[in-house]
Amino acid sequence: MSVPQRPVPVVLDVDTGVDDALALLLAVRSPALDLRAVTCVAGNAPVEQVVRNTLVVLDAAGAGDVPVACGSQRPLLEPARDARHVHGEDGMGDLGLPGSTRRPRAVHAVELLRATLEAAEELVTVVPLAPLTNIALLLRTYPHLSDRIARIVFMGGAAAVGNATAAAEFNVWHDPEAAAIVLSSGVPTTMYGLDVFYDVTVDAATAEELATSDDAGARLAGLLIGHQLARFGGTASTIGDAGAVAAVIAPDLLTTVRHPVRVELAGTWTRGQTVVDRRGRAGDLEHDPHRLHGLPAVPIDVALAIDAPRARRLFLDTVRRGSAP
Ligand code: RIB
Ligand code: CA
Repeated sequence: MSVPQRPVPVVLDVDTGVDDALALLLAVRSPALDLRAVTCVAGNAPVEQVVRNTLVVLDAAGAGDVPVACGSQRPLLEPARDARHVHGEDGMGDLGLPGSTRRPRAVHAVELLRATLEAAEELVTVVPLAPLTNIALLLRTYPHLSDRIARIVFMGGAAAVGNATAAAEFNVWHDPEAAAIVLSSGVPTTMYGLDVFYDVTVDAATAEELATSDDAGARLAGLLIGHQLARFGGTASTIGDAGAVAAVIAPDLLTTVRHPVRVELAGTWTRGQTVVDRRGRAGDLEHDPHRLHGLPAVPIDVALAIDAPRARRLFLDTVRRGSAP
């Protein structure tokens, strides 16, 4: 597995969130990434709780210097609808962790994203792991900044079935209008959707070993995975959002296809569905009755498979980097 020579500059947009926490731990500890900023948005939990959780995770990972900013407290149109039934009342497994002494930056997430993109000498990879409200606002407020983005690698959507509803994945379902704006932006984009999201797992024995680590970051990862196992049962639990970060570190983990993707905004049963146009009939698209309907359908790279064992090894080896040998 090749690791880029120069660390890839990245920003993460999160709704921390058990699996967002695992993604943050991976991003902070990977020598292949240079985490420039973390922005928070309402999703799994209210945005104020997301900020609190994010600061706690960065402290545990030893990354107290990474700037954090609070973003949208609700989607563009929809009310905020949390996922505490999945992530716990506090959004992070109800582990009862003490809050950070650190404060977020006194600017909106969009402003931290703008400043980070403008300050970077090279193009930045944007990694949304949450509803896309902040990213949509960034692209609509500062459209010229899309030229400063190398790629958007987002956790969201699905080519097959949903999770929040039968048709829609939670991050897209939570703010479908924001997702539609981002997916039609023309920025090179990789969709890390439910088709791969559940494939990268960690088993109970490994979670228990991590949870006894003397390193706060590795220990937190073990406790969070243990929470998911206790809540949902089974012998292993997905690392979720962390898989999208692994795909930034090692893009060859993914098998992708390039197809236009639209977001359903009107369907009673399908609102928030990512409609992946797999027809592959470029010529006939001129006669596609939907060709002029709504936002343009822009081809993006859709992940349909992942090398799950290699992704798991990458996650575990990297998160353990902070722990004693
Ligand atoms: O559908 C899964 C996604 O929704 C993950 O990002 C999880 O953290 C929640 O935000
Ligand atoms: Ca998330």
